[in-house]
Amino acid sequence: MVVFKKAEDLRRYLLKINEKGGVVGFVPTMGALHDGHMSLIAEAKKVADIVVCSIFVNPTQFDDKTDFEKYPVTIPEDLELLTDGGCDIVFTPSVSEMYPNGTEGQKVYDFGYLETVLEGAHRKGHFAGVGQVVGRLLEIVEPDKLLLGQKDYQQCMVIKNLIEQMGMENLELVICSTKRESDGLAMSSRNRRLTNGERQLAPLLYQCLVSIKTKNGMQSFDVVKKECLDILSKKGIEPEYVALADADDLTVLDDYDENRNMVTLIASKVGDIRLIDNMLLN
Ligand code: PAF
Repeated sequence: MVVFKKAEDLRRYLLKINEKGGVVGFVPTMGALHDGHMSLIAEAKKVADIVVCSIFVNPTQFDDKTDFEKYPVTIPEDLELLTDGGCDIVFTPSVSEMYPNGTEGQKVYDFGYLETVLEGAHRKGHFAGVGQVVGRLLEIVEPDKLLLGQKDYQQCMVIKNLIEQMGMENLELVICSTKRESDGLAMSSRNRRLTNGERQLAPLLYQCLVSIKTKNGMQSFDVVKKECLDILSKKGIEPEYVALADADDLTVLDDYDENRNMVTLIASKVGDIRLIDNMLLN
């Protein structure tokens, strides 16, 4: 496995691979890798000849300064996991390498409606930051396949839109299903910051999604949502949102609609740690 810190060095290396016609699969991450990330690497190995992983905690996508400062950084462990997982290339740039003209100098994309609902509404500027960094990474890596986890459902939609805006018609977006712990908790780098007590409570978010999915067609969404909120509230958890949306365009729905593909999404702090999850209904 080769590790690059400089965009120029990585570009030069990838150019040689492109000349030989190798298919490049790219997994962008913020590090603190877990089995969820490793499943993306495994999938990338299936669909590409060369797998590139980036590790960069992007400051421009954090609306909460403390969240950024406390974001776990575990580079040596990450590199070990990536070596074992058969990753070929790792890119670990500094902030100045990613934003040579400053963060203000890096193009900001407009994602319209997607920036105004759910994660967009609760994390001001988050998707603008995601667009900035992923835009820059795609310019550097120019992959053939981009692999993302479904856990960040809205982010996947934003990045799909970004790819269209960047005119990268040949880039294929591969969305991989969410990896879960045995009790249902979606794997996330933030999970390691949960206390033991919070870790016991965190699967309740998953249980809410399961109940919203299973009660489709049996009760109104309002009733199911209220039941979920009551259960969470008894445990001291007050979600930022529990929502039902159109899975294709993220239109937020008041009630189940059998004529649409649907997704249910939740975001909540458990203790100080903000967690998100989602589940497709169809
Ligand atoms: O999902 C993430 O880890 C990040 O938002 C991403 C896509 C690596 C951009 O920083």
